[in-house]
Order: sequence, then C-alpha cells, then structure tokens
Amino acid sequence: MDWGMKNRLSRLMKPKDGNAVWLAVDHGYFLGPISKLEEPTKTIAPLIPYTDALMLTRGVLRNCVDASIDMPFILRVSGGNSIIGPALSNESIHTDMEEAIRLNAAAVAFSIYVGTEHENQTLTCLGKLVNEGQRYGMPVLAVTAVGKELEKRDSRFLGLCCRIAAELGAQVVKTYFCDNFEKVVRSCPVPLVIAGGPKLDTEMDALELAYKAMQAGAKGVDMGRNIWQSPKAVGMIKAIRAIVHDGASVEEAAKHIK
Ligand code: 5RP
Repeated sequence: MDWGMKNRLSRLMKPKDGNAVWLAVDHGYFLGPISKLEEPTKTIAPLIPYTDALMLTRGVLRNCVDASIDMPFILRVSGGNSIIGPALSNESIHTDMEEAIRLNAAAVAFSIYVGTEHENQTLTCLGKLVNEGQRYGMPVLAVTAVGKELEKRDSRFLGLCCRIAAELGAQVVKTYFCDNFEKVVRSCPVPLVIAGGPKLDTEMDALELAYKAMQAGAKGVDMGRNIWQSPKAVGMIKAIRAIVHDGASVEEAAKHIK
C-alpha cells in the first residue's frame, strides 16, 4: 500500500488500537433535513471533541464545518436518489476524486445496493472509485445499503454485500450489525465498521449494538442517528468511545450518559 493511502487510513483508524469512532452526518443527501440534523452546524459542533472522523457531503462540509478543524473526514461522493423517489438504489458518483483531494478528504464513501435493479450500476461505480483511489492514494469506504428494506439485515445478505465490496477493492466496509455478525467479519478481508441504523428505543440498546459488534470483530462505528438523535448526544458519543477505544462494557460505558 502506498504512503498516502496508509497515512489517510491511519488518520481514520487510530494506530493506537486500529479502531474508529466516526460520526455519520451525511443523511441529508437522500433524507433531507431529518430530525436533529436540520442545522448540521449545531448538531456536529458539540460532538467534534469525541469524534475520530466525520462522514459527510461536500455541501455540509463547506457550509457547516470550520476549515480550521483538525479532524479527518470521509467524504460521501454519491447521490442522485431520495427517500421519496422511485428507486432509492439509483445512486451514482456525484463528487469526483479531484474534488475529494481539493477538500483534503481522508477517504471517500459510496453505497452499494446489492440485489437491487441498480446492483450493477453501484458496483461499477465502486470499482471506478477504487481505481481512482488507487491512483491518488485515497481509501474507499463501501457502504452496504439496504434501502427501505431493513429486514434484509441478516448475516447471509450482509456477508455477501461486504465480501463483494472487499473483492471490488474497498479498503473499509461499513455495514449493519446482525445476528452471527462474526460470520460477516470472518468472510470480509478488510476492516468493518457498523452503522447504527434508525434510532433504537433506548441508549442502552445502541450501546449494546456497538458492544456486540466490537466483540464480534468490528473495528468501530460510523454512527449517526443513535448518537445525535439522543437527547444526551454528548454522553452517547463518549459512551460509544469507551466501548470502541477502551474496551468498556455496556454498563461501564453507560456511566458517561448523564
Ligand atoms: C446512509 C449512511 C449513514 O451514514 C449511515 O446510515 C450511518 O448512520 P446511522 O448510524 O444513522 O445509520 O451511510 O447511507
């Protein structure tokens, strides 16, 4: 692996333990102004001190994040779909590699929609990004999207998606936690991080999700709603950090939520 690629990855997955707490705030690219992310600046600012990297679009980066920030970010480079459109899976590359480099991204992110009518389109886009990423030393984070069908989140389906993403060259894969998650981890030769998905009933449920994922071999989280939709968002991200970086149990981590 070339120096630039290695350097970018080490900014994202801390060399101390190889783990990562990324804050996902890219939802607006297909969901619009969802609850608690109506004003991204206000949502992001208090969480920054506890975040290893932000995941966001160029629009939110340019307009809602101060350029003096000393934090890496993962740039979502895809779009073209919306929650009310005819096909959520109809996503393609919207931000090119030159722009990612100009903005000083530490990685680019793209969603793949395996098993949908746009499977080929999204996998081909992933391949294109990986080719360009290799050329410029830019890691690619593949996101295994499930669209509106959340029930698709089982180990067979996610294992298939994660493996395909890794086979096509993604350096890191983001997926959902599921039963038998260790099987998904074992069959994916690159690091896996988990999304949180829609807000769970309680903070403890979200901590348990992160804890179980780490125990099963995840390298961290790229979490959004279960952090910033919580009324105790700062406590939540501190608790998630304790699980990911300090090996805390759910009960120990929960002490951060005040
Ligand atoms: C959307 C994404 C989001 O970043 C991802 O879903 C993480 O956020 P959350 O924890 O809210 O699910 O990639 O496609």
